Parts: sequence; C-alpha cells; structure tokens
Amino acid sequence: MEDNLKIPNHVGIILDGNGRWAKQRNLPRSKGHYYGFKNLEKISKYIFDRGVNVLSVFAFSTENFKRSKEEVDYLMSLFAKGFKTFNQKYKDKIKIVFSGRRDLLPTDVLKSMDEVSKNCKQDSDKIINICINYGGHSEIIDAVKKINIDVLNNKLNLDDLDEEVFNHYLYNDLPPIDLMIRTSGEVRISNFMLWQLSYAELYFPKVHFPDFDEREFDKAIIEYNKRDRRFGGINYGDKNS
Ligand code: FPP
Repeated sequence: MEDNLKIPNHVGIILDGNGRWAKQRNLPRSKGHYYGFKNLEKISKYIFDRGVNVLSVFAFSTENFKRSKEEVDYLMSLFAKGFKTFNQKYKDKIKIVFSGRRDLLPTDVLKSMDEVSKNCKQDSDKIINICINYGGHSEIIDAVKKINIDVLNNKLNLDDLDEEVFNHYLYNDLPPIDLMIRTSGEVRISNFMLWQLSYAELYFPKVHFPDFDEREFDKAIIEYNKRDRRFGGINYGDKNS
C-alpha cells in the first residue's frame, strides 16, 4: 500500500453482518458473532498499526436487547470474556473505554468492563471505544442531563457551553470521527455516535464483518483518500479549476 496516504485519526465501525455471514455457512448466529469477535481482535491491531489513533466500534445497541434471549445471552458472555482478552492483548499499549448506559447489562459484563477500565493503559494516545448498550440519542440526552446538574450546582455557566464543552459531557471526550465504516452493505448509521459523526466520511463495503480483513481496510483508506473533505467550506481543488 502507498505510504503517503492520509490516515484518519478516528475510525468508527458498525460491526454488521455477523448473522448473515453465519447463515451463508449454515452455522448458528452465535458462530457469526464469535468469528466477528475473532476478526475484531485481528483487524483492530492492523488498524492501530496503520496509524489510526482512536477506534470506536458499535458492539451492541440498546435495541439489540430485543433479540432472542439465547442470542443476547451468548453476546453478553462473549463480551464478558472478550473485553478481558482485549485487555490482555493491548495491556501496555491501548486505553480501552466504553460508551453506553450501564443499566440492563448483566453483572459479569459490568465487572469485566470495570476491571478493563482500571487495568488498561490509562495515558495512551491510542484508544479503543467499545459502544455497548449504546444509542446516539441517549448519549446526547445523558450529556444534557449532566450539563443541567452542573448548571444547577454552579459548576458550569450556560454562556460557556460550546461544542468543545459539550463534547466533554459525552460518555467519553473523543475527537470527531473521520471515517465511519459499516460492513455488510447496509447504508444507514443506525443511531451510532451521532454527535461525533457530524463531518465523517461514510463507507459501506459489501462484506460481512467477519470477512472485513486487512485488504478491506486498505480499500477503505484508499476510498477515504479520494474524498474531498470540506467541512462546510469550499475547496474545488484541481477537479473544477
Ligand atoms: C451485528 O450483526 C452484530 C452484533 C449485534 C454484535 C457485534 C459483536 C461482535 C462482533 C463481538 C464484539 C466483541 C467484543 C468483545 C467487543 P448482526 O447480528 O445484526 O448481523 P445480521 O444483520 O447479518 O443479522
């Protein structure tokens, strides 16, 4: 791959298509999630090695609780074990943070999250943000509630509230997403990090998440480099001059 490519600072991925990947192979849906998890272990390392600093992944939306008890239970046990696996793998290198509401999550998942948050490398510039029991609207509502409390307690003056201050009240104070990838060909953002996605480039590869490998990520980077990011300004570049 060319070395002079622009690398996005913050990449977001909606991990979609595990179920369809399994169905195509006559496997139970749980196997799709398992191979999705194995792939996340591999591809996250590659993504950080390519120079990305922050990786956010949508692992479980609040709406995913509507799935069968069997599937939800399987995913929860995968998370409880999987977060620890991530921690061991990234121990001295990467800070692991979580976004989402804690209510409804089983105790062993919460315990695993707390352990990982405590034991991971706190002062790393490289961050993996795992969205679990997450919704973009809820994140904004929860931030507004925290702001209200700080205003009532005279810790924040409303006149000082701007985008930067608001960002600080979100689940995690992360930079904006530069590139959002949703696997499996669905062209939707499904309530994923709405605040942070405001100027992101969106990319929808057809492959299901367990097949989203190094080559697929490189294709996403090449596509990102073709985009003309204007952030509301004007930049006709060479194309129209
Ligand atoms: C969506 O695919 C995927 C999920 C709801 C789960 C994603 C979770 C993982 C890949 C595991 C991550 C693990 C850790 C430890 C972070 P889908 O089931 O909606 O697929 P479908 O649309 O084809 O049915």
